[in-house]
Amino acid sequence: LPARRSRTRVAVIGGGPAGLWAARHILSRPEAFDPPVVYEMTDHLGGTWFYEERVGTYDNGYPIHSSMYRDLRTNLPKEIMMFPDFPFDDRLNSFLHHTSVQQYLEKYCEKHDIARHIKFSTVVEKVKPVSMETETGGAVTWEVISRSTRGDQNTQTFDSVFVCNGLITPLHLPFYLSVSHLLAFICAFIHCCFAGKVLHSHSYRYPEPFANKSVVVLGARASGVDISIELAQVNAQVILSPNTPTMSLPPPLGIRQASAVVGVLEDGSLQFQDGSVTQADILLFCTGYNFNFPFLCPSELGLDVQDLFVTPLYKYLLPPGFPSIFFFGICKIICPFIHFDCQVKFALAVLEGSVKLPTQEEMEKEVQREMQRKQDIGVQVKHLLNLDKDQWDYYLDLARVGRFTPPQPVFESLYEEVRRQRQKDPQKYRQINYRLIDATQWELLEAPPEQTDRV
Ligand SMILES: Cc1cc2nc3c(=O)[nH]c(=O)nc-3n(C[C@H](O)[C@H](O)[C@H](O)COP(=O)(O)OP(=O)(O)OC[C@H]3O[C@@H](n4cnc5c(N)ncnc54)[C@H](O)[C@@H]3O)c2cc1C
Ligand SMILES: *[C@@H]1O[C@H](CO)[C@@H](O)[C@H](O)[C@H]1NC(C)=O
Repeated sequence: LPARRSRTRVAVIGGGPAGLWAARHILSRPEAFDPPVVYEMTDHLGGTWFYEERVGTYDNGYPIHSSMYRDLRTNLPKEIMMFPDFPFDDRLNSFLHHTSVQQYLEKYCEKHDIARHIKFSTVVEKVKPVSMETETGGAVTWEVISRSTRGDQNTQTFDSVFVCNGLITPLHLPFYLSVSHLLAFICAFIHCCFAGKVLHSHSYRYPEPFANKSVVVLGARASGVDISIELAQVNAQVILSPNTPTMSLPPPLGIRQASAVVGVLEDGSLQFQDGSVTQADILLFCTGYNFNFPFLCPSELGLDVQDLFVTPLYKYLLPPGFPSIFFFGICKIICPFIHFDCQVKFALAVLEGSVKLPTQEEMEKEVQREMQRKQDIGVQVKHLLNLDKDQWDYYLDLARVGRFTPPQPVFESLYEEVRRQRQKDPQKYRQINYRLIDATQWELLEAPPEQTDRV
C-alpha cells in the first residue's frame, strides 16, 4: 500500500483572482501543502481583468476568455474588492478602471512570489478522479491532463483540485424565458432570421462601431445597463429589453425601455411582448453566462449541471461524494474577492482536516434542504445560486465552521450603500468615493483622491 503523503498536492485550474488567491494561501502553509501547480491557458495572469482586444479565439484555437471591455470601471468600490491582506492604493478612486485591478493582481503576485508556480499557456483538458486503497481506507487522487501551446501533453497526479476557471461560457439565450430545447430552437431562429448583426456582451469591446446604429440590448443586469450607457454616448439608438417586465429604476436618458423580445418577423424585425415591432441593426445579448466544465465529467462526480444551476455542491463548493475537488465562485451576485477569500480558507481547512465534514448523505441532504427552502419562498431554479443579501450569512457560516476570522461588517454595509446609489443613478454612482474607517464604519470622501487612474 502506498505510504500516506505528509503534504497535500493541489492543482489550481486558472490564474485569475480566485486561482491567485488560492495559490497564495497554499504557499503560506508549507508544512501542510506542497507548492501548488497553477494551470493557466493564456500567457498572462489576471483572468477576466486582463483586457484582450481580440474577440473569438486565441492563436491556439481556444476561445478568448475575458469579457472585459475597454472603458469598464468596476461596479464595486475598491474598498470591497480587495483581498483582506492587501488594500488598493489609497490615492486611487473607489471605482477603478479595469487596468488598475490588473495592476493590483500583478503586484499581489509579486509580493507573494506566485508567478513561478503558474504554468502559463497550458490548458487543462481533463480532470479524472482515481480511486486507490490506503492504510486508512479508500481515497481519491486526481489525474490532471494538460496541454501546452506547443502541443505537449502532460499528466500529473494531485490530492486535490481547485477549479478556478471562471466557470463560464457566454449564454446566448434570452434568459427571461426558461431555458429549454424549445428555447434553443427559438434562439437559433433569432440567429438565422434576424436581419441585423447578433452578438454577445462577451465580444463587446467599445462603443464606436455602434455609433448612430439602432441596438436592442437583451438583459438589463450590470453589463446590459453599463453597455447601454456607453452606446447611448455615441448616439446609438438603444432599446433596453430587460428580463423582468418592469425595471426598478428609470433607464438613463436616451435609452428606451421595451418589454421582452418574443420573436422575429418574416422581414427580420424584432417583435416585443407588448406587440410593438422594431427593425434594429444589432441585437446584443447581455444575457450572462452558462456553466462550463469542459475538462470534467460532472455525472462522474455526482453533479447535475444545468444551464444556470449546478447541484449538489456542499457549501456551494464541493461535491459530497468527492470532497477534495472544490469549485470556486459558482454563486452569483456576490463580492467576488471577499467570496474567494472565505471559500479558499474553508477549502484549506477541509484539506488540513481541521473541518470534519458530515457524511456524504448528510451533505447531500443539507444541500437539498437549502435549495428546497429557497424554492419554497419562490426562488426560480435559475436564481438558486444568486446569493446577494444571503452572502454575508454564508461567509459567517464558512468562517465559523472553518475557524477563521469572518469578513468585517463594514463590507456588507458599504455593499448595501453602493447598491442604493447604483439604483438611484446607474450613471453617476461611480463618481462617489469612500473610505473605510474601521471594522464597522465607512465614510464618504468629499475631496477626490489625489490621483485618478484614467479619465
Ligand atoms: C465584464 C465583467 C465585469 C466585472 N466587474 C466586476 C467588478 O467590478 N468587481 C468585481 O469584483 N468583479 C467583477 N466581475 C467578476 C469577475 O469575474 C471576478 O472579479 C473575477 O475575475 C473572477 O475570478 P476567477 O478567478 O473566478 O475567474 P477569471 O477571472 O475568469 O479567471 C479564470 C482563469 O482561468 C483560466 N482558465 C479557464 N479555463 C482553463 C483551463 N481549462 N485550463 C487552464 N486555465 C483555464 C482563464 O484563462 C482565466 O485566466 C466582472 C466580470 C465581468 C465579466
Ligand atoms: C453619427 O451622426 C452624427 C450626426 O448626424 C455625425 O456627425 C457622425 O459623423 C455620425 N457617425 C458615424 C460613425 O456615422
